[in-house]
Order: sequence, then structure tokens, then C-alpha cells
Amino acid sequence: MDKLLVTGGNRLEGKINISGSKNASLPILAAALLTEEPCIIRRVPDVSDTNYMLQILRALGADVERSSGTVRIVAKNIIPEAPYDLVRRMRASICVMGPLLSRLGRASVSLPGGCIIGDRPVDLHLKGLQGLGANIDVEGGNMLMEAGDGLIGAEIDMRGKHGPTVLGTDNLMMAAVLAEGVTVIESAASEPEVVDLANFLISLGAKIHGAGTRRIQIEGVPSLGGTDFTVIPDRIEAGTYMVAAAMMGNGVTLNRVNRTHLTSTTEVLLESGHLVDFNARGTSVTVTPGEAPQGCNITTAPFPGFPTDMQAQFTAMLATTPGLSVIEDTIFPQRFMHCAEMARMGAEIDVDSGRAIVQGVESLSAAPVMASDLRASAALVLAALGAKGTTEINRLYHIDRGYEHIDEKLLLLGADVERVRSR
Ligand code: EPU
Repeated sequence: MDKLLVTGGNRLEGKINISGSKNASLPILAAALLTEEPCIIRRVPDVSDTNYMLQILRALGADVERSSGTVRIVAKNIIPEAPYDLVRRMRASICVMGPLLSRLGRASVSLPGGCIIGDRPVDLHLKGLQGLGANIDVEGGNMLMEAGDGLIGAEIDMRGKHGPTVLGTDNLMMAAVLAEGVTVIESAASEPEVVDLANFLISLGAKIHGAGTRRIQIEGVPSLGGTDFTVIPDRIEAGTYMVAAAMMGNGVTLNRVNRTHLTSTTEVLLESGHLVDFNARGTSVTVTPGEAPQGCNITTAPFPGFPTDMQAQFTAMLATTPGLSVIEDTIFPQRFMHCAEMARMGAEIDVDSGRAIVQGVESLSAAPVMASDLRASAALVLAALGAKGTTEINRLYHIDRGYEHIDEKLLLLGADVERVRSR
């Protein structure tokens, strides 16, 4: 297992490009299963999650070629069984359910196992697919789905107790594009990644209206064609470097961003006293630390609210911001594993009932820490960049799931980081 050594204190400066979105790429890659025609997908980040998804597509019979960020998929002869060994490694593998069921009339996909960021049930995914007429049984840890006479459009409300579901909306949308008749998804997720998937499907010939709102309408078509499509920038990667720049920057510019996806992240940085300056087109942003940063309160919410995927990174920043901050995660109330690790670096954080109460301290000090999930590891890297001494971040594979070449990008900005490869 690789680890990262981060020696804190260097001021960051310079420009980097933000990669294509991991969370948009994953369902889009799965959606290539919906058509026999070639799909060229550009700016797919080279991270382990997208590589797992490509392995799953290969195991399902698709022809997959990857040349840096560009992926070409031809899914002519595919099978409906997704192998457990690959599926268990990544929850987003459940994105293949909708396309397989829709294209082949059946699918067998392992139930995803436990997840460190909290309970992550699949009831809403199943509700959606059942709503289109699929029969679903759970047997030997697998979800067996069947729609012998094809899926039929229906009106389905996807609201769960924590709000809308992103991948659940994606699965239902992918299933509905080839279903007979019209499907209406109520309480749909409106995240930019859902919109990007809809745009990808539209580029294949699907008929979808309302993506980006709470009501998506899909008119089924008999078959789909091919496409050449470019994935949106990763708003969480961009947000993570924006926080790094606010904590340790001395003129950091991020190119290839989309301002409209970064509104809530920008608002919280401004509220904490930092400076955020986009270019006129909103495709590039410079973040500069404010002179008198102050604590603030954050509550995560579905888009356009503050993303749960940015919660850990802001906790790292607020750990050394003067004053008291309260951070509440309403989407994943157990997603606070990073706090205990940051406490080992001297942070003063109390976690209770889905909330972290952070008393900003002057500085953190290096310690060996353990990455527990993707965003928690990013938060530890941020904490380490500002800490005194050399922090050793173990289990780096978590961060490699979703941050393309993070060590190289940080080196470009002048950070003192070193990846120690496992033998
Ligand atoms: N939920 C249910 N039932 C379901 C599905 C979800 O109750 O059937 C609940 C979840 O437990 C959670 C809430 O609904 O409380 C929202 O979860 P959602 O389904 O939206 O999460 P997801 O689609 O599985 C995606 C991202 C996550 C991100 C969440 C929330 C991908 C591949 N994953 O997951 O990203 O945190 O949406 O925005 O797109 C990450 O990148 O680090 C990450 C975890």
C-alpha cells in the first residue's frame, strides 16, 4: 500500500488543470452498455474507480480501449452477470443494473457491501427499477432482476429519508431510456453529474427533459446510437484544491472548472473570509487566503446545497481557522472518520449526532494518520499541508480512487509531498 509523506508549511502557487469528473464518468461509462455503437468518452480521469468500472465493462463483454483520458467502448455482445469480485470493490458498480436490465431484459449484480461513510442502502434503486416492471429477487448476495417483456414507463417518486439519490436517479434514467412509453422521475437528484449523464444519453439519441430539476421526463426509444462526448470537470477535485489554496495559497489558479457547479463551495470560502475570483467565463478560478479568516457553520444538502463530498475538506480547513464552526452532514451523518485522525494532529473536534463542532486551533502538528475513505483522505492531505512537520498518510489507495495524480498536482503547486510506493 502506497503512503504519502507531506511536510507542511510550503506556500502553494501556480496553475493546475482540474480533471474530468469521477462521479460523472462512472455512470456514463456504465451507460455505454446501452448501445451496440461505439462510444468515445473524453476526460475520464485516470483514477482507480474509473479503472474498476472499465474492468467491469470488459468482464460484461464490452470492448474497451483507453488512451490516457479518452475511452472507447463498444458493447456489442454483452452478458447480464456482473462479477462479485469486481463489483464488491466499488459501490458505483451498481450503475450497471439499469443499463443491463434495459438492454438485455435481465441482470445479476452483487449487493454492495458495507461502506465506511455510513449506511448506503439500495432500496430506492430497486424501487425505481421495480416501478418500470422489473421482478427483483435477492439470492446468495446477488440482486437478480428480470423484465422478460421489457420495461414499461411509469411515474416514480425517488425521495428517500435523506433526500434524493444520485446513482438511484441515474439507474432509473438509464433503465427508462429504452423502456416502452414515458417515465417521469419525481424527486430526482439534480446534481451536475446527473445532468451530464442525461446529456450523454441524449447524445446517444435518448429523449430526456428536465435533468437538473426535481422532475425528469424520459420518453423511451427502441435503440440508441454512438457518441463522442466530453465529461464535465470534477467539482469536488476543484473544491478540494480551492480549500488547499485558501489554507496555504499564494496565488493558486485552477483551470478547467465550471463556476456554476462551485457556487456553494465558493460561498462558504467567502463567508470564511477568503478571496475567490473566477474569470469572466467561469472556467478558471484563483483563490487567495483572506487576512482574517473566521469559523463558519456548514450543513450539507443535495445540489445546489453544500456537497457532502466537500464536508471533510472544509473540516480540515476550519480546524485551523479561528473561532467555532459547526459542520452538519445531513446526507451521511456518520461521515466523520477524518475527525479522529485530525484530532491526532491536534485538532479540537467533537463529533456528535451527525455534527462536528470544531474549535479552530493555531496550527496542527504532523502525525502518522490513516486514510479511511476517499474524501477523508483528501482532508488529511489538506490538514498535513498546513501542519508542522512531516505527516505520513497511510492507505493512500483511498485517495487514488478519486484524485487524479494528486501528488504530481501538489508538487506542481510547490507542496512538499512524496509518494512512497509499496514494494
Ligand atoms: N439512499 C437511500 N436508499 C438508496 C440510495 C441512497 O436511502 O437506495 C440514501 C443514502 O444512504 C444517502 C442519500 O440517500 O443518505 C443520498 O445517497 P445517494 O444515493 O445520492 O449517494 P450515491 O448516489 O450512492 C453519490 C456519489 C457520492 C456522494 C453521494 C451524495 C457517485 C459515484 N457517488 O453516491 O460520492 O457522496 O452521491 O452526493 O456519484 C464520493 O465521491 O466520495 C462519494 C461518496
